Amino acid sequence: MNKEIIIIGADSFIGGHLFPYLLTEYSCSQISGTWFHNQFIPALSFLDITDDKSLESFITEHPESIFIILSGNKDVRFCEMNPEAAYSLNTKPIETIVSVIQKNDFPAKVLFMSSDYVFDGTEGNYSEAHLPNPMTVYGKTKYSAEKILLNSSIQFKIIRSSAVMGYGGVFFDWLMRELLTKEGAVSLFSNTYFSPTPLELLCKGLNIVIQHFSSIEKKILHLCGSSRMSRYEFGCIAADYFKINKDRLLPVEADFIGSTFQNDLSMKPGDLFAVIEEIGPMDYFAGLFKEAQSQYAL
Ligand SMILES: NC(=O)c1ccc[n+]([C@@H]2O[C@H](COP(=O)([O-])OP(=O)(O)OC[C@H]3O[C@@H](n4cnc5c(N)ncnc54)[C@H](OP(=O)(O)O)[C@@H]3O)[C@@H](O)[C@H]2O)c1
Repeated sequence: MNKEIIIIGADSFIGGHLFPYLLTEYSCSQISGTWFHNQFIPALSFLDITDDKSLESFITEHPESIFIILSGNKDVRFCEMNPEAAYSLNTKPIETIVSVIQKNDFPAKVLFMSSDYVFDGTEGNYSEAHLPNPMTVYGKTKYSAEKILLNSSIQFKIIRSSAVMGYGGVFFDWLMRELLTKEGAVSLFSNTYFSPTPLELLCKGLNIVIQHFSSIEKKILHLCGSSRMSRYEFGCIAADYFKINKDRLLPVEADFIGSTFQNDLSMKPGDLFAVIEEIGPMDYFAGLFKEAQSQYAL
């Protein structure tokens, strides 16, 4: 394995869970990461990925590392309104990282977190072989980054995930607060489909890729939950778990005209991750709901 695992964007939602998870699997000296606004542990290094020179120096200082790239901007509406900023956060840093590794012939490896938004959201059940056709600026910037990697000679994996669920996630936190700390009706889209991905599954999957990087032939890996469902259906699974009356959940229809909502971004998980699949929807999300209950229950 490479000398060091470095999470670029360790202070992200995913990084905040992945970093401690990897610390349970490897020694402290093998794991490090970067922060931008939130230095949640002192051991992290500051890095602004839009500062080309700093990014280049950072990669050059760690030529033999595995870089897990979580930094960027996933706010679909922000990206739509600010395409240049979206490019400078989601695409340009990948170009810089690839260029530094390639021109110096470093043995570094890159795990790039990509997204279901590279697909057009019309069919759903997207496999790793399905051709992307992004409809949003966010999706386009992620797909451009993917193409830079695919056209490079460096060692990389593109990890596509979907709606990562866990404490700290925007939709997850909102839903848990509504269900556990309030009493009113909760409106949830019944016509937008996704493949919710438990954080634990994502962390375990990323670790499988780290450990078996060289023997995994595929460059693009779908690491996501195996169930296609609407946000309303996800809410029903949560309500069942908490034994909350499902009548509180109101199925509502998203309006796709003039919005960034996508009808069906569900993805099929890749074969590689079958080993970490759980049995059914209840058990699959139980760990997440249990944690939420301890965080939010009055
Ligand atoms: N969450 C999901 O459901 C999901 C699904 C599929 C794919 N992904 C992808 O996975 C990655 C991580 O997702 P996430 O949900 O953990 O994202 P997130 O919480 O929004 O975190 C984004 C990260 O980017 C960092 N960042 C922003 N601007 C930066 C800059 N100029 N220099 C350095 N770092 C900067 C942020 O640092 P600060 O917080 O300090 O600003 C933060 O660490 C994203 O690239 C996203 O596209 C996420």
